[in-house]
Amino acid sequence: MISLEINGKKYQVDVDSDVPLLWVIREHLRLTGTKFGCGVGMCGSCTVHIDGKAQRSCITQVGSVQGKKIRTIEGLPEDHPVKKAWIAEQVPQCGYCQPGQIMQAAALLTENPNPTDKQIVEAMSGNLCRCGTYPYIKKAIRRAAKEGKKV
Ligand code: FES
Ligand code: FES
Repeated sequence: MISLEINGKKYQVDVDSDVPLLWVIREHLRLTGTKFGCGVGMCGSCTVHIDGKAQRSCITQVGSVQGKKIRTIEGLPEDHPVKKAWIAEQVPQCGYCQPGQIMQAAALLTENPNPTDKQIVEAMSGNLCRCGTYPYIKKAIRRAAKEGKKV
């Protein structure tokens, strides 16, 4: 039995410890906001926070995150500056990659509340978007950084 804390709630899941966290989140706990893209850590669509850091849940074994605080897109408050900025800048197209983009951006701003454009590009470079929303993502992160200062 694996014990997990996700979005402030405790869960017990009957899976092997080497099962990917992404699988447990989506298939066992039905938190389907986190998306499956490549499954090999190359696209960023499965990004969640583990103890506040952005991590790829598709290549994270569930046994390695027992006792850590996991946050998925469902656990990011609706009034979080990044979510608000995403809406204001109308970032999503098909939307598939966006939960991962948002989680990556939120972790960036926690670590660095006022990133330069170069730092934004670097931090977001592992999150792919087939719809090419990159310019909007950059604008939204700049907006969230400004908004964050007011909070
Ligand atoms: S699904 Fe995890 S990085 Fe692509
Ligand atoms: S919005 Fe479609 S893949 Fe990013």
